[in-house]
Amino acid sequence: MSETATLSLGDRSYELPVSVGTEGECAIDIRELRGRTGYITLDPGYANTGSCLSDITFIDGDRGVLRYRGIPIEQFGSDPNFVEVAWLLIFGRLPSPEEYRCFAADLTAHANLDEGMKYHFEGFPRSAPPMAILSAMINALSCFYPEYLELEDDVTFRMMAARLISKIRTIAAYSYRHSKGQPYIYPDPKLRYVPNLLHMMFSQPYVEYECEDVVRDALNLVLILHADHEQNCSTSTVRMVGSSQANLFASCAAGVCALWGPLHGGANVEVLRMLEDIHRGNVTPEDYVRRAKSKDSRARLMGFGHRVYKSFDPRAKMLSVVAERLLMTLGKPDPLLDIARKLEEIALEDPYFVERKLYPNVDFYSGIVLRAIGIPINMFTVMFAIGRLPGWIAHWWKQIRTQPGRINRPRQIYTGNGLTDYVPMAERESNVG
Ligand code: ACO
Repeated sequence: MSETATLSLGDRSYELPVSVGTEGECAIDIRELRGRTGYITLDPGYANTGSCLSDITFIDGDRGVLRYRGIPIEQFGSDPNFVEVAWLLIFGRLPSPEEYRCFAADLTAHANLDEGMKYHFEGFPRSAPPMAILSAMINALSCFYPEYLELEDDVTFRMMAARLISKIRTIAAYSYRHSKGQPYIYPDPKLRYVPNLLHMMFSQPYVEYECEDVVRDALNLVLILHADHEQNCSTSTVRMVGSSQANLFASCAAGVCALWGPLHGGANVEVLRMLEDIHRGNVTPEDYVRRAKSKDSRARLMGFGHRVYKSFDPRAKMLSVVAERLLMTLGKPDPLLDIARKLEEIALEDPYFVERKLYPNVDFYSGIVLRAIGIPINMFTVMFAIGRLPGWIAHWWKQIRTQPGRINRPRQIYTGNGLTDYVPMAERESNVG
């Protein structure tokens, strides 16, 4: 017999079904709670709310485990290939050589943007935040590909997913070129996903950017480590928007906005600013940690802490190694890496961080890797978005296929005025002065 949970409310009790995942996580299924009891659950921040059953990504936050479709992320480290991982997340298994070749060919074929989109870039000020441009331009794809706005079948979905994964890279590169006032560089069909992104960002009409293997591998790994993280803020946003049956472009544009915030993907920018601040001598690592602990300050130790991980974030561990290796191979030591290690050491010995189980998260070392590659700081969160896109697409599609027609719509407990009469303007007291 399957397990149930018993809920007592006054003199009545209710049996509620329990759902158990493949790795043993348990949930009390409250889908019928309100209908049967008149009560809802209250969970601001959703820390105890499961929004779906999902077979895409597994995290064990206590043991620092992250697996994509069952595969531990550490196994993607030796020969990192972001496109293969994107396929895995979206379609549920590793691609056959033939499937991989087809998908990669689709990405190559659809890298270009409609020439009309260039005029949109022109309209943005040079100083426009690239995340704003990215979100706007992903949404603008809806105008250029109306044939994908109503998704009927797997084949159309596959074409749409390939176009989006390919074009986000071109949009990202163009937003960078625009901010520099440099001419747009067209995608090169001879190049693979990551070298093509760097080519569009850094080549000049008269000088070809040459991508070193170590740089290619490091960026592939950065993208892979960001590729999915189950029901995080931006993925939940994509699912929320998608639940209204908004199209994939609109849903992912919303995901970019959610990712932008400093408590989510924007933390990679804040971490680097923090490290630079310490490097300039404006503040010591000890002061930073002290400030982050103070209840009088809103400051936090950026790149530390996580809603799910209560031990080491495995992505941070891998990125710390990649940062070291990359800097050594390129012969470009970076004092910010030493500062990051010092901060980590201080925090991990401090009872405040130990008691709250706050460890470095993915954003703590990713900025150092991106900086070594030559990515400017205002493009850090854009890189995160390129990486996270396959995860958004996978969750969006899963939701469309498994929950058709069910809109996401939480409830609330109202705490405002009781019944109140409207007062006409002329009868209201002035509160000026
Ligand atoms: N520095 C100092 N204190 C912290 C930090 C931090 N980085 N993170 C959490 N805490 C403290 C909180 O003040 C709180 O203390 P209290 O119990 O005394 O009130 C306690 O730890 C629990 O923190 P919450 O905010 O409740 O944890 P939550 O799960 O809501 O937040 C989050 C997780 C947003 C990641 C948080 O740890 C944080 O703000 N970290 C810094 C920003 C960051 O690195 N974000 C990237 C996360 S990874 C990603 O999204 C890709």
